[in-house]
Amino acid sequence: MTRTPLIEQLLYISTVSPNETVDLATILATARRNNRANGITGLLMYNCKRFLQVLEGPADAIDATFNRIRRDTRHRGQVLLARKTIDQREFGDWSMDFRGETNQDADALYDTICAKIANASPNLRAELTAFASQI
Ligand SMILES: Cc1cc2nc3c(=O)[nH]c(=O)nc-3n(C[C@H](O)[C@H](O)[C@H](O)COP(=O)(O)O)c2cc1C
Repeated sequence: MTRTPLIEQLLYISTVSPNETVDLATILATARRNNRANGITGLLMYNCKRFLQVLEGPADAIDATFNRIRRDTRHRGQVLLARKTIDQREFGDWSMDFRGETNQDADALYDTICAKIANASPNLRAELTAFASQI
């Protein structure tokens, strides 16, 4: 009998490094390429100061990916907020394009984020909406 590999979900927050101009497009391109290859899905939120990222995937891929992310000097103060095993991915698509644009309607952005995270567990949803409300 083949067993479905366990999926782990990890949530961390970090701060943009001083004097760093965030090139979100480059970060996203690398993340999408690697994550697709490694069976990782998730969500990345960015509010011009902090990143909040959810990663989901097989435990060894999560470890390897988070170790790379942790060493990345574009951000610092990475704090692991939660890590748990889940039955089913909550972010099946790797979509990571939330950012706080100064000219964007904050309420509209907040609504978009709330819709996107509707399938997340209550605890995770609370973390993500709290972050989104600061954008
Ligand atoms: C906020 C942030 C989020 C990132 N997210 C991912 C990610 O989800 N997956 C990933 O492989 N790399 C991610 N990276 C990039 C990694 O830190 C690292 O640069 C990259 O994995 C190296 O891959 P490469 O050897 O293919 O260039 C992220 C970087 C930052 C700053």
